[in-house]
Amino acid sequence: MERKQMAHPTYLTNESKVAEFEARIARGEKIEPGDWMPDAYRKQLIRMISQHAHSEIVGMLPEGAWITRAPNLRRKMVLLAKVQDEAGHGQYLYHAAETLGVTREEMIDALLAGRAKYASVFNYATLGWADIGAIGWLVDGAAIMNQTMLAHCSYGPYSRAMVRICAEEGFHKKQGQEMIIRYAQGSPVQRRMAQEAIDRWWWPALMMFGPHDNESANTPQLVRWGIKTKTNDELRQEFIDELVPALRALDLSVPDAQMHYDETTGHWNGSEIDWDEFWRVIKGDGPMNAARLSARQQAHEDGRWVREAAEAYAAKMTVNGRAPAHA
Ligand code: 3HC
Repeated sequence: MERKQMAHPTYLTNESKVAEFEARIARGEKIEPGDWMPDAYRKQLIRMISQHAHSEIVGMLPEGAWITRAPNLRRKMVLLAKVQDEAGHGQYLYHAAETLGVTREEMIDALLAGRAKYASVFNYATLGWADIGAIGWLVDGAAIMNQTMLAHCSYGPYSRAMVRICAEEGFHKKQGQEMIIRYAQGSPVQRRMAQEAIDRWWWPALMMFGPHDNESANTPQLVRWGIKTKTNDELRQEFIDELVPALRALDLSVPDAQMHYDETTGHWNGSEIDWDEFWRVIKGDGPMNAARLSARQQAHEDGRWVREAAEAYAAKMTVNGRAPAHA
């Protein structure tokens, strides 16, 4: 069925356009690129999707460092496939952001200039091979929780990108979980490796869900317009409730002595996140922020010749502004 783009007759006031827009979201309709949308909706999506895309691309660096040091060919192939997936996720998301009118160059320039945010978790170092397992299970596990929620997002291109990405994230989480399970059931050295990796990645993974709801500047608007269908704290609690029992079943612990099961609520509760660390890392003062940014700047510089060659080829192939008939 031909989908009529939801333009609005000019005489409608902004209030009535917003009311109609919100009624569409309440009916569960997807907002598409050509539809009318409040500027604030567009701005929120450009902010969130571009940061999500940056997170995928920067997120390749912590694990990429271990591809050449994988313990065997199988692990190397799995890690290669995962890191390659993340690059593809970044492309889907940059493209989804472009449907809102921002250019790829604007987004990349913002990242390379250090003006753009990306998930703070990627500013921590991968100090041992078992970190790859902890990242897969905890970081990709947290990402899946968040992204499964975003697959219901009111903006069509974002929700469809999430459906595609979540399918691949499932493999990312499983390969990490399988690695930690094996090491937890392995030699004392392997068990220690697994526990140290969980200790390193537990708190940065909890921080992926953002500040508490009552401190989250963006959540009210994002929930109102169906971009988020769950809040930061709801998703974080789901994550804790899933991971703590699963780690305890392996005789592994989370690095939080206060973690306990609350019979009355049916949830696992622990200590407060170190919010000073959270904001310090987001503001650029994490263990690896400078290294991550310079790695992306170097990669962009190294890829300059490819971009120039592609532009020269495209220009050659286009005669008087039109691709030749045979192309
Ligand atoms: N790292 C960096 N910045 C963060 C952050 C984090 N963990 N949590 C929050 N922030 C920033 C927000 O971007 C916002 O800053 P801004 O207004 O300048 O953009 C500020 O802190 C306040 O936070 P809010 O809660 O108000 O912001 P949001 O409502 O946007 O919530 C979020 C933050 C939960 C990250 C949300 O933006 C979101 O769900 N984003 C989409 C998913 C995403 O980006 N995930 C990142 C990981 S991707 C990944 O892990 C790849 C996988 O393959 C491993």
